[in-house]
Amino acid sequence: MVKVNPKKRTSNSFFSGYSCLLLILLATIVSFLTFPSLKPVGNKIRKKSLSKLRRFSRAKHNQETNTGVEEMSATKILQSGRAYLVYGTAWKKDTTARLVSAAIESGFRLIDTACQPKHYNEAGVGEGWRDAAKKLNINREDVYLQTKFTSLDGQDPNDIPFDATSELEQQVEQSFQKSLENLQTTYLDALILHSPMTDMDDTTRVWHVFESFYDAGKVRKLGISNIYSLDKLKELWNAATIKPSIVQNRFYEKSNFDVDLRQFCTEKGITYQSFWTLTASRKALATQGIKDLAMKKHLSPQTLMYAFMMTLGHTPLDGTTDKGHMEEDINVVRRIQSGEEILNDEEIDFMEGVLGVSRG
Ligand SMILES: NC(=O)c1ccc[n+]([C@@H]2O[C@H](COP(=O)([O-])OP(=O)(O)OC[C@H]3O[C@@H](n4cnc5c(N)ncnc54)[C@H](OP(=O)(O)O)[C@@H]3O)[C@@H](O)[C@H]2O)c1
Repeated sequence: MVKVNPKKRTSNSFFSGYSCLLLILLATIVSFLTFPSLKPVGNKIRKKSLSKLRRFSRAKHNQETNTGVEEMSATKILQSGRAYLVYGTAWKKDTTARLVSAAIESGFRLIDTACQPKHYNEAGVGEGWRDAAKKLNINREDVYLQTKFTSLDGQDPNDIPFDATSELEQQVEQSFQKSLENLQTTYLDALILHSPMTDMDDTTRVWHVFESFYDAGKVRKLGISNIYSLDKLKELWNAATIKPSIVQNRFYEKSNFDVDLRQFCTEKGITYQSFWTLTASRKALATQGIKDLAMKKHLSPQTLMYAFMMTLGHTPLDGTTDKGHMEEDINVVRRIQSGEEILNDEEIDFMEGVLGVSRG
């Protein structure tokens, strides 16, 4: 019997494999030199495999960090209990659909609008989220749609989305139906009263209609906007069966940044949504101290401001029209959603000082 030296066999097969490889390599070089027409084919193959590789590593990165755009879902974000941004759609007119779609593609999942054609193109929001959902293969539950009932005095007299001569309750009903139609949905994630009515009686009348939508399962959260008096908010809180779970306010110096109201919101588990967050803090964001802190955190002064609000547990509305800003902003949401503590207590105190938030 002939004994085979396993070492020898391995080295033999290694060398024969090695020479095979060498031969193939030589043949390829010769064929490329001899038949230059093959070069574009080679380039094509190389390009194809490069983009395949990039796609693979992107997918792998998303899998590992679990923060890929495909992974983001409004339901998951809300369940996480961590802060997020809401994409705001005011003043976008004909660009609304395109921008809403771009925002969702960038990673935004929560959208704010209003049944107020004067400032919002609600139907554009409907078109935009549908388009993005199709592209990303996501469902209605992955997106959060929030709209508002705007009373007659907030509407353009030439473009009122309900019958202005009907009773207040019917106006709310009609506005709500219009919103469902515009947003191409059978339910809303949140319905907000755009401003308190001129008296508490009318505010309560509107609220009772809101509660009937809630009871019918047509809306999941109720909220109020532009309410700057804590007493008024407490009055609504006490009168309501379904309590307000969102307050949407301008975040600015004139109201001392809603310090007391925000405290009440925190105690009652009400989500505080801010608008004018960047506009009202423009001066503060231009200071050297804020610029330095932003750089230290790998942020811009604007994204630092959003990080500040989210660290406080609040929800800024973000109405950017810029794709680059959308991506920067979503990157902060990702950092917060992954559990990173971007700012410590000392840094929060520092930012409050620069903004001029007064406690006490
Ligand atoms: N309830 C109410 O009565 C009420 C009132 C007003 C607004 N809102 C809601 O709030 C939303 C936001 O409005 P807003 O007044 O707060 O301000 P905004 O529309 O978010 O405007 C912020 C400004 O900051 C700029 N910006 C610079 N860097 C940015 C960044 N990284 N991310 C985002 N923006 C950046 C934006 O410019 P670029 O576009 O170039 O990024 C924009 O001009 C509205 O769309 C609306 O949904 C509600």
